[in-house]
Amino acid sequence: MYFTDTKICIDGDNGLGKDAVIVAADLVKTYKTKKRKGLFRGEKKLVEALKGISFKVYRGEIVGLLGPNGAGKTTTIKILATLLLPDSGDAWVNGYHVVKQPFGVRKSIGIMLTVERGFYGKLTGRENLEYFGALYGLDRRYMEERIDYLMKLLELDKLGAVDRMFEEYSLGMKARLGLARALLKDPPVLLLDEPTLGLDPSSSRMIRELVRKLAHREGKTILYTTHNMFEAEIVCDRILLINKGRIVAEGSPEQLKSLIPKLRIINMVIRGGKGVEEIVSSMGFEKYEAKYEDTIVNLKISVEKPEDVLGELIRRIVNAGHEIISLKVEEPTLEDVFLYYASKT
Ligand SMILES: Nc1ncnc2c1ncn2[C@@H]1O[C@H](COP(=O)(O)OP(=O)(O)OP(=O)(O)O)[C@@H](O)[C@H]1O
Ligand SMILES: [Mg+2]
Repeated sequence: MYFTDTKICIDGDNGLGKDAVIVAADLVKTYKTKKRKGLFRGEKKLVEALKGISFKVYRGEIVGLLGPNGAGKTTTIKILATLLLPDSGDAWVNGYHVVKQPFGVRKSIGIMLTVERGFYGKLTGRENLEYFGALYGLDRRYMEERIDYLMKLLELDKLGAVDRMFEEYSLGMKARLGLARALLKDPPVLLLDEPTLGLDPSSSRMIRELVRKLAHREGKTILYTTHNMFEAEIVCDRILLINKGRIVAEGSPEQLKSLIPKLRIINMVIRGGKGVEEIVSSMGFEKYEAKYEDTIVNLKISVEKPEDVLGELIRRIVNAGHEIISLKVEEPTLEDVFLYYASKT
């Protein structure tokens, strides 16, 4: 791990080798729009969506772009997918440059955007996939087998969605078909923009589990955007925290959590009385609270290193004749990390 002026980086070697499949180098993107001034007048407005973003994703790895609304996640995905040109900077996907070799990039990727476009409402799920298969130039027999396989994999067959018209699809069915389309030509790289947005827990879970299998069993390289900390933590091997167009921190969920200065909370439930509080104050703790319910005390003590004090605290409480009913030490969550960095920049 090393520190630079602008961000904190975990060094590239993640045990998967140094085979970087996605490389972004100092990507900058400013949108030029018009601010409405009255009905017909407009004033030029610049939105700096990316202010120099650099990262790598290695083969077989799931990297999460985690950040609040407007952070620049979709913009990054669109540049990597050749749907948008950067103002400056470079990016390579599967060895192809996104500006100079867009066809190579497009051959290498499967993309799923939050707002699924391009499906035809009057065609069934299967017909839609056949349409895209033909567009990608897939061999007819291979394509039909692949579609059958994907319909099963994404459980669209179980939902009775294969031969239903797309316009009748629920949100979850649409997301599944979107992922099926991304996987149709079996690409080595997947760019997934909030693939579980608006889905129920079982659809979200299915997609998350599938994403992990695709990376860890099939070696696909996956960039996954989300603003959901819980999801980032369970899906991603490594997280890039992005805020206002910059990467502000990078690492595994555990590494990120260890980066923030955060107190731990010792949470104890004790059968005792006022004597418990006296023990706590005699040990010099400053930040604590005690809530009483008859003879039960719920004690919360904030400390930097619970391991240094816990043994002595327990000994004193037990020696004084009190009974410890439960004890837990609460860790900072990824949400604390997210809020810490969001408030800092
Ligand atoms: N076509 C556009 N024209 C003008 N500004 C845009 C355009 N697309 C995005 N932006 C702006 O660029 C910034 C980054 O947007 P982007 O869509 O990349 O964020 P995001 O991280 O994907 O957010 P969300 O979580 O809401 O999807 C935002 O300030 C957004 O308003
Ligand atoms: Mg977005």
